[in-house]
Parts: sequence; C-alpha cells; structure tokens
Amino acid sequence: MHDFKYKNNHLYCEQVKVEDLAVKYGTPLYVYSHHTLIDHYIKLRKAFVQVFPLICYSVKANSNLAILKALVKRGAGLDIVSGGELFRALKAGCPPGKIVYASVGKTDKEIEDAIKAGILFFNVESLPEMENINRIAKKLNKVTNVAIRLNPDVEPKTHKFITTGKITNKFGIDLKSAYNILIYHSNFSNLKICGLHIHIGSQITEGSSFVAAIKKVITFINELKKEEISIQYLNIGGGLGIIYDNETPQTAFAYAKKILPLFKKTGLKVIMEPGRFIVGNAGILVVNVLYIKSTPKKKFIIVDGGMNDLIRPALYGAYHKILPLRANGDKKQALEKADVVGPICESADFFAKEREMPAVKEGDYLAVMSAGAYGFSMSSNYNSRRRAEEVMVSSAKAFVIRKRESYGDLVRNEAIPAFLLDL
Ligand code: LLP
Repeated sequence: MHDFKYKNNHLYCEQVKVEDLAVKYGTPLYVYSHHTLIDHYIKLRKAFVQVFPLICYSVKANSNLAILKALVKRGAGLDIVSGGELFRALKAGCPPGKIVYASVGKTDKEIEDAIKAGILFFNVESLPEMENINRIAKKLNKVTNVAIRLNPDVEPKTHKFITTGKITNKFGIDLKSAYNILIYHSNFSNLKICGLHIHIGSQITEGSSFVAAIKKVITFINELKKEEISIQYLNIGGGLGIIYDNETPQTAFAYAKKILPLFKKTGLKVIMEPGRFIVGNAGILVVNVLYIKSTPKKKFIIVDGGMNDLIRPALYGAYHKILPLRANGDKKQALEKADVVGPICESADFFAKEREMPAVKEGDYLAVMSAGAYGFSMSSNYNSRRRAEEVMVSSAKAFVIRKRESYGDLVRNEAIPAFLLDL
C-alpha cells in the first residue's frame, strides 16, 4: 500500500532511513516515495485497462514538478484548475492534449492561455463561462473543446467542505439546465461540446455514490442521444478515498468492478482525475519535537511544523496518523494522551488532539503520515514561516525536489514605498 515501513525500529521510506533525511535536510520536511506514487497510478490504470482511460492526475493534490513529471512520464494526463497549474503542467512536459481544465472561475487570461496551449478540453461550470470561452476562442480564431461539468446532486458521504456534487454546491450545472443548454444553446460558433464531466467530492470511501452519479449521467447521455446529440468523453472526476486511520475505502479494482459495467456499450471515452488516491499515501511530513509541555489539564507535544505546513487537521478536523521515526519496539509500551501542536499563534494549529501517543521527548522526530495530498500544496507562509523542503526517495536515493524557502524568499516581492523611507 505504501513504502513507509519500520525496519529495526527505524521508519524507512523505501530503502532510506527517514531520520537520515531529517538530519540532513532539516524539518519540517516532506518525504515522498516515488515507488508508492507510481504504484498507485499503475493500480488504477490496470484496474480500468478494459476502457483505456486517460488518467488526468489532479495537480492541486500535489503540484511539485517532480511529482508531475514522474506521472507524466508514465503516460498520465493532468487535471488543472488555474493558469498556474497550466504553467506547471506544461513545464513538467505534459502533452497539452492530455490536459483538462476545471474551475468555476476561469479568468479571460487563463482561458486564452489554455486555448493557445491547445488543451484537450475545458470542464465548463456555467453558461456565462461557456459564452466567455466561445468569445475568447472566436477572438483567437480557434475552435476549442469543452465538456460540461454536471452537478448530479448526489450525496458523497464525505466532509461537507469537500462535497462538490450536491445541488447546493457552486460546482457544475444541474441536469435540467445542462439539457437545455445542449438542446437549445449548443450552437456556439467556436466551441465543440465533446464531453460531460462530474466530480462529486473527495475522500469518498463508498463506491455507491460514484455509481449513483455515473448512472444519472449515462441516463442523461441516453436522453441526449434521442435528440441526436452525441457525447464522446465522460470524465468521472477524482474523489477516491484512501486510508488515513481505519477507513475501508474501495480498492482500485473494486471501484473499477462497480464502474466498468456502467460503461458497457456506451462507446464513451473515460477520463478520470484522481489526486489523493495517487499521492496521498506517497508522502509524509516529518517534524521535530521542540518541547513537551504539561498543563493542569493537558499534555502538549510541541513540534516545529505547523498548520501552515499541513492545514488538513485545522481545516477539516482531518485525522493523520503520527508515528515516531524511532519506534521503541515494545508492543506493551504505555501510551499517553497528548495534543500534537505546532508553533503558530492559533489554537487550530494542531496535528492531533487527545491522541494516545507513545513516550516522546524533545529532539525526537515524528512522521505525520498520509500527507502527500493537499499537504504541501495547501501550505502557506503564515507567521512568516518558510515553506518546507520536499524530498523524493527512489529506492536507496533521495532527491531534493524543492528547497526550503529562505527568509529572502519571504519578502522577495515586497517593496517599501519611497514615502516611507525618507522619515
Ligand atoms: N477533479 C476536480 C474537479 C477536483 O475539484 C478535485 C479535487 C479532484 C479532481 C481530485 O480529487 P481527489 O481525487 O484528490 O479527491 N483539500 C481537500 C480536498 C479538496 C479536493 C478538491 N478537489 C483535502 O485536503 O481533503
């Protein structure tokens, strides 16, 4: 499942002792396993081999160029949501014909750049956006492909902040309006409506929600057929859940087994946009224990990483396992409840609350597990903290894939206006 395992009570990433990396590169430090990353991508590809899907890895999950390159090299396409992600995708060498572009708020400049780059298609999220893409394509004298993102109004049974396919969410177009667009408004001069797209949410552990959404869309496609409108692509989005704690998510094969029968005889080309499934368990965040603080009510393990490095616990109350890099090996060791917290001036700055932790002392290293997805990519410079270093391990070698920021980086784009200088 992943390549972070204990050997002789030391946590290893593939064949590299993680503590050696922490000492060499400092902490907080993201460590990724190249093997786990590729393994997850290949598992999905194999599971869906019958339909040869285009797997467009969702860049937002982890947008480091090395991560993108590793996947692009294996034939992955990319799912992007901004001009910045387009820039990264092209920089990583992704063929533009394998890029799909979602987002409810694409700007004119972003649309123009994506058309010029020749992406596979836009996932459009509203009629005004379609009109705008058509206008821009016309100006550029190009015909561009679009897929309509549908809002299938299904319950994905996940955290409300990462639910995207309910009718009250801002994403996609409801089926009735999409039908009207396709029947009455589809004669855009510079658009080719070639597909439909859904993405119902993230960290979904039950296949039934995916099945319900895809069934709705396939019924919809059959209704369109009666009106002689044919759809080439169905992009089923991402959202596959992973194990953080004791979840029992569907495997790639179980997921495929549920989904593939729905595609029989449809002739549809399948696109998928997994992010977390591919990179989530391929990364950890390593932090160092600065202080142990006991108060009348609590014990705090204060570490040198914070919510600026990994915001998921603060934002979603997300659970991440926390393991010491050196296990004590004693299965009967006493555990003690503690909060694992960072140095940031916010009470939401925690990685774990009331967690049964083994004895740890100042200077020990801890690994916050399953931090590969939405970890570094959601990190910030809050409290003027430099963003962490990132390292990729492949077998027995480690490669820096992003240097730790310097203090200079923090103020690189700032300027003090002259009127403030001549005091
Ligand atoms: N496609 C679209 C259009 C998306 O919006 C997303 C994620 C994905 C694909 C990839 O979803 P995945 O396979 O990774 O579940 N920050 C949150 C997750 C937000 C997901 C946003 N959209 C978290 O840390 O849990």
